[in-house]
Order: sequence, then C-alpha cells, then structure tokens
Amino acid sequence: MELIRLEEHHLPEFLTAIKAVMADQDLMHMELDKLHEEAVSDPARFIREQDDPLGLGADIEMPDGTFVKRLPSIVRHMWDGEICGRIGFRWSPGTNELPPTCLGHIGYWILPHKRRNGYASKALGLMLEEARAQKLDYVELTTDPDNFASQGVIKANGGIFIEQKPIPKEHGTGDLTYWRIKL
Ligand SMILES: CC(C)(COP(=O)(O)OP(=O)(O)OC[C@H]1O[C@@H](n2cnc3c(N)ncnc32)[C@H](O)[C@@H]1OP(=O)(O)O)[C@@H](O)C(=O)NCCC(=O)NCCS
Repeated sequence: MELIRLEEHHLPEFLTAIKAVMADQDLMHMELDKLHEEAVSDPARFIREQDDPLGLGADIEMPDGTFVKRLPSIVRHMWDGEICGRIGFRWSPGTNELPPTCLGHIGYWILPHKRRNGYASKALGLMLEEARAQKLDYVELTTDPDNFASQGVIKANGGIFIEQKPIPKEHGTGDLTYWRIKL
C-alpha cells in the first residue's frame, strides 16, 4: 500500500469508495456526504483542495451551519492497485495547537473490505512524516470513545490517551477521546 495524490481520473472510483464507506457505517463527524457532494459539484476544485499546504481553499462549513477558516492541509489516498482509503492532515502554521473546532490533526478511513491489513497504521505512520516536515512536536487525534479500531491505529503509532471531553458544540453532541503522538 502506498499513498497517492488523487487525480481527476480517480474520481469515479473515489465516489464508489466513499459510498461504500457511508453504506457501512454512519461516520457523523467525518461528513462524508459533504465530501461526496463537493467531489461531484466541482471536481477541479475538489482535486485542488486535496493539496492545500497554504490553506488557500474556501472557508469550511461546520455541521451547525457556521463557517471557520480553512487550515493548511494535505490529503492522500491509500492505493494498493485500487483506492483503499483516505487520510488527511491539517495544521496551524507555527504551533502545535489547533482551533477548538478542528477535531485533530489527522483523520482517516479505510474501505470496509480493506480493513485489518495494517493500511491505516501504515498510512498514519507515513503522514507523521508530513507533520515532522511542518516542525510540529506532536499531533493530536480524536476518536469516538468506542472507536477501538481507530484507537488501535493511534496506539500502533505510539499515541497516548490524553482525555475524554464533550465534542465542540459546532460538531454536535457526545464525547470524544483525545490522543497525542509525539513526533
Ligand atoms: C479505524 C480504521 C481506519 C482502521 O483501519 P485498518 O486499516 O483496519 O487498521 P489497521 O489494520 O492498521 O489496524 C491496526 C490495529 O488497530 C486495531 N484494530 C483495527 N481494527 C479493529 C477493530 N475493528 N476492533 C478492534 N481493534 C481494531 C488492532 O489493534 C489492529 O492491529 P491488528 O490488526 O494487528 O490486531 C477503519 O476501521 C475505518 O475506516 N473505520 C471507519 C472510519 C473511522 O473510524 N476512522 C477513524 C475516525 S477517528
């Protein structure tokens, strides 16, 4: 498995992949329906925003309808001859801190039939290199309290549990667990 940059010719496969993930499970905080809509409505912009290390893309709409400024970000797709997942990294330049509305530096999903192959763990390890390149001291990740799969991926990369607290109100209700990986 390697990480690739998404190109326009990958979009049909990407749209099928995202639908398969949505059909499997409701990943509320990941807003996959919005991602699907963005890829369909403006493919060129969608592809451009996969690689936005200066944070030049449009402001981001929160689930409650408010807008926040887009952070610099890099998104890569996992590829083993076909798309098997997605991982994104966003950061605030010059600081380890994130705005409270941003649920962690790194987020990922894997297609249901590609899970338990070590892909998410490997992809996270590769993305940590990008975080080191940004001179961060650590990255913060969040998971639902019962998302033991994602917690396993974080622990496989040396992550430690920091705290459990309510999700920022812009994202809805419930608790999140916060994790940290030292770089
Ligand atoms: C979480 C997710 C990305 C894991 O992807 P993956 O490629 O299957 O993860 P890995 O194969 O790298 O698993 C690494 C370790 O995590 C743990 N793990 C993974 N899936 C698990 C599961 N379903 N239950 C318990 N532990 C699990 C295991 O310790 C595993 O190591 P092992 O297979 O040697 O036992 C995948 O389940 C997924 O896409 N879930 C839906 C999206 C999601 O929750 N994203 C994260 C949001 S915070």
